[in-house]
Amino acid sequence: MPMNDTAALYGTLRRIAETVGRAEPAGRVAHYIPVLAEADPARFGMALAFPDGETIGVGEWRHRFSIQSISKVFALVLALAHRGEHLWTRVGREPSGNPFNSLVQLEYEQGIPRNPFINAGALAVTDELLDHTDQPCELMRDFLREESGAPDLDFDQRVADSEAAHIDRNAALGHLMADYGNLRHPVPQVLHHYVRQCAVEMSCEEVARAGGVVTRHGLRADGSRLLSRGDAKRVNAIMLTCGAYDAAGEFAFRVGLPGKSGVSGGIMAVVPGRYTLCVWSPGLDRRGNSVAGMDALDRFTTETGCSVF
Ligand code: DON
Repeated sequence: MPMNDTAALYGTLRRIAETVGRAEPAGRVAHYIPVLAEADPARFGMALAFPDGETIGVGEWRHRFSIQSISKVFALVLALAHRGEHLWTRVGREPSGNPFNSLVQLEYEQGIPRNPFINAGALAVTDELLDHTDQPCELMRDFLREESGAPDLDFDQRVADSEAAHIDRNAALGHLMADYGNLRHPVPQVLHHYVRQCAVEMSCEEVARAGGVVTRHGLRADGSRLLSRGDAKRVNAIMLTCGAYDAAGEFAFRVGLPGKSGVSGGIMAVVPGRYTLCVWSPGLDRRGNSVAGMDALDRFTTETGCSVF
């Protein structure tokens, strides 16, 4: 199949939307953030954005959901753009092999999170961004508005409040890192910005557009350079090796693309230089990745033959 043939790609998305979710159980919605538990696990949307911003999509591709951990990609992009190499003194780039909110590794590795996509790593990234601006979550929201062309997108305050009321585990990660000297700002301040960045509400179409900065090797939607090609390559590499937590191997095995999942059921995936995908379906597997989302991306790369391998 010609990979940039829009009509053919749309046909693929249509076939995926018709079949996905029927072959497997839809999974369970996240319960540890109570507002997310209200979602219907069977909902489904999928979008594809070309580097020029053109989009196609199927199902509920214009329905907004809180992007949760997908925000960790954008936080990393902004931290590399504004703080550069310094970030790597305080966060690693190895897969953790552990759940995204695990505490154990953080203690025996002296407060240095394995990578920027587990929760501890994302807290370190937020802390790093706080050295650039006292409003990192607003910086991200404004960036996402510009990249996705959606000036009205914003935080879902209900989701942020719900997570803030159940913050003990992330607070524990933050305090442990602070004890090791790997958080410079007060833990509550870091948590506040982290929770709000996770609560940014976007549709599959908007996420796919915003992810274009990674797909275009560091160029923003307006053509200006935000990241060097080298840093964009690194972001893609970390998405490939760490984007699905303790299922990163399974994600590479089935999908074969740099990707990033979130507990609200979204997954962003990148075909470098070609297009950005985003799929959403709230039913999760036991590692916190969307069941139908993984299935849809697996089918997409299998049918199109378009993965990084
Ligand atoms: O901190 C949390 O637990 C959530 N705000 C985000 C976690 C998440 O999305 C993990 N993804 N699979």
